[in-house]
Amino acid sequence: MSVIVGIETSCDETAVAVVAGQVRVKANIIYTQTVHAQYGGVVPELASREHLSRLEPLFTAALEQAGITSREIDGIAVTRGPGLIGCLLVGVAYAKGLSVALRVPFVGVNHLEGHAISNRLAAPDFGFPHVTLIVSGGHTSLVRVESWEKFTTLGQTRDDAAGEALDKIGKLVGLPYPAGAAIDQLARGGDPTTIKFPRARLEENSLDFSFSGVKTAAAMYLEKHPDTARPESLPDFFASFQAAIVDVLVEKLILAAQMHHAVGVALAGGVACNSLLRQQTKRAADQTGLAYSSPPPEYCTDNAAMIAARGAIELDAGRHSSLEMVAVPSWPVGNFI
Ligand code: KG4
Ligand code: ZN
Repeated sequence: MSVIVGIETSCDETAVAVVAGQVRVKANIIYTQTVHAQYGGVVPELASREHLSRLEPLFTAALEQAGITSREIDGIAVTRGPGLIGCLLVGVAYAKGLSVALRVPFVGVNHLEGHAISNRLAAPDFGFPHVTLIVSGGHTSLVRVESWEKFTTLGQTRDDAAGEALDKIGKLVGLPYPAGAAIDQLARGGDPTTIKFPRARLEENSLDFSFSGVKTAAAMYLEKHPDTARPESLPDFFASFQAAIVDVLVEKLILAAQMHHAVGVALAGGVACNSLLRQQTKRAADQTGLAYSSPPPEYCTDNAAMIAARGAIELDAGRHSSLEMVAVPSWPVGNFI
């Protein structure tokens, strides 16, 4: 049973994990960088520097948590892209260094395929083909998963990611970055029918998303009704805004599953922690006879266990990257370049 170390540095989480036998997570350590909160968004240069100073202690901590020494490591899996180029470079350089020092192979992993495979960690027997909605601060994509190594993009956002829209509107009312979890909490106490926000469905049967319209509508509403930023008004406002986003996400996920003859639907990415999204997806899946899976929160937000899980499949099959491998800031799923 191979023991793989995963390394994730694509955005503002520095993460190291140890996964044995492709699915047994022995360590999953995530450091969420706090330096960005004061700027209301991720500052790429600061994120790269944080990765640089945090990786080594996290690697040591991960081995300790897994109860292994570096001699027991069989391979390294690292996020190669998509992501912030400076951040990716730090992880890739570190992985190459480990690979040379420990004399084990390393492999570059697609971050989005990692998100999709986080459902294998939660539900190893989840059936194929299924459609996964990967929804985070940087991505909103529908991916058809034919096997744990075959992925196809069915649709994606044409502008903002869903998490980005939540974070930006949260910032306008003074919520700290990232605002998704706070919005989820506030919305639980509100009435989603208070404000009618638009739902962008695009062309008939389109599996793409657009969230810039609802984001602008929410920003304009706040401008016209400045009292909304008062604590007593926020629950209704966010319940309405969150429902507009979740309705479209769930509708398109189910549509994608039906159009592509899937047996199930799954969630992944930071926004997959959202309680309304989980609840509505489960309900819609039950109503349409589809299986449903969503990973626990520690596998939803950026983590290295999912990167190790994806890389383990390649390494176990004898495929690995060379030292010439470069990080790639944009990289669609399904292309092993
Ligand atoms: O996957 P992730 O950790 O990083 C990216 O690749 O972006 O996702 C972070 C995103 C942020 O936009 C954050 O606001 C959102 O996930 N998020 C949530 C919740 N928890 C985190 N959004 C809605 N509801 C939540 N409970
Ligand atoms: Zn991510």
